[in-house]
Amino acid sequence: MRAKFAVVTGASTGIGAAIAERLAAGGAHLVLVARGADALEEEAARLSRRHGVTVRAVPLDLATADAPTRLAKALSDQDIEVELLVNNAGVSARGPVLDGDPARFRSLVDVNVSALTELTTLLLPAMVARGHGAVVNIASTGAYAPAPHLAVYAATKAYVLSFTQALWAETRGTGVRVVAVSPGPTKTPMNARGTRSADAVAATVLRALSGSGPAVVDGRANALVVFLFGRLLPRRLTLAIGRRLMARGGA
Ligand SMILES: NC(=O)c1ccc[n+]([C@@H]2O[C@H](COP(=O)([O-])OP(=O)(O)OC[C@H]3O[C@@H](n4cnc5c(N)ncnc54)[C@H](OP(=O)(O)O)[C@@H]3O)[C@@H](O)[C@H]2O)c1
Repeated sequence: MRAKFAVVTGASTGIGAAIAERLAAGGAHLVLVARGADALEEEAARLSRRHGVTVRAVPLDLATADAPTRLAKALSDQDIEVELLVNNAGVSARGPVLDGDPARFRSLVDVNVSALTELTTLLLPAMVARGHGAVVNIASTGAYAPAPHLAVYAATKAYVLSFTQALWAETRGTGVRVVAVSPGPTKTPMNARGTRSADAVAATVLRALSGSGPAVVDGRANALVVFLFGRLLPRRLTLAIGRRLMARGGA
């Protein structure tokens, strides 16, 4: 008998930790991934004690090229059947591209895009073969329109949204649920000025698992922003508004 687990990347803080908490409270065994081994081990021990589930900590830097294959190997070596993959780990970079650090941008793309794509591609086939399982990819409201001063970050999230929606279509009828969840500004170590709580986003993620569409935006106000900036307003106008807001340190 193989044990069924949920894998949550970026699970040591913020939205990932809140998702892990809710999954553990629902009785799911967990594999937690992040770079900081101490924080991860502590979180794993706490969740296991509190909810009586098995929690494994796998410290990994997802910006390194072989991290996804190392994680897949660690899972298979421990005979873990992945029922749910939550690709939540993400990094942001604020400021104009002109002042940006190319190495930092590469690393951001490696985590937000490459690791997410590779982990999904490594773990999805077994789910499809079994006829059940789920992949949740955490995008952002920034996925729905280009964002001056968050250009690289928003572009990676547009990738996450596009990739996930296409994969949703490819996996229709397989029994595997694929969905992108887009939070807006959420109070976490990544975003001290966020207004929504990480737990509210985690609740949306769990609801999205029992839904059927390819993409979910967290919260009504964020859904309105996505509608306005992503669909209704002309792109030139949303870019001008975005540039002003972000130059003033907003959003
Ligand atoms: N907060 C917001 O306002 C907001 C809005 C929209 C979307 N999101 C998205 O939500 C997700 C979670 O964000 P958050 O706000 O919860 O961020 P956070 O609090 O900064 O947490 C990020 C998590 O990812 C891990 N991580 C970062 N770099 C990593 C790497 N190279 N390898 C492995 N793990 C790594 C961090 O742990 P270590 O540092 O120990 O590695 C941490 O566990 C991200 O995808 C983010 O883009 C956030």
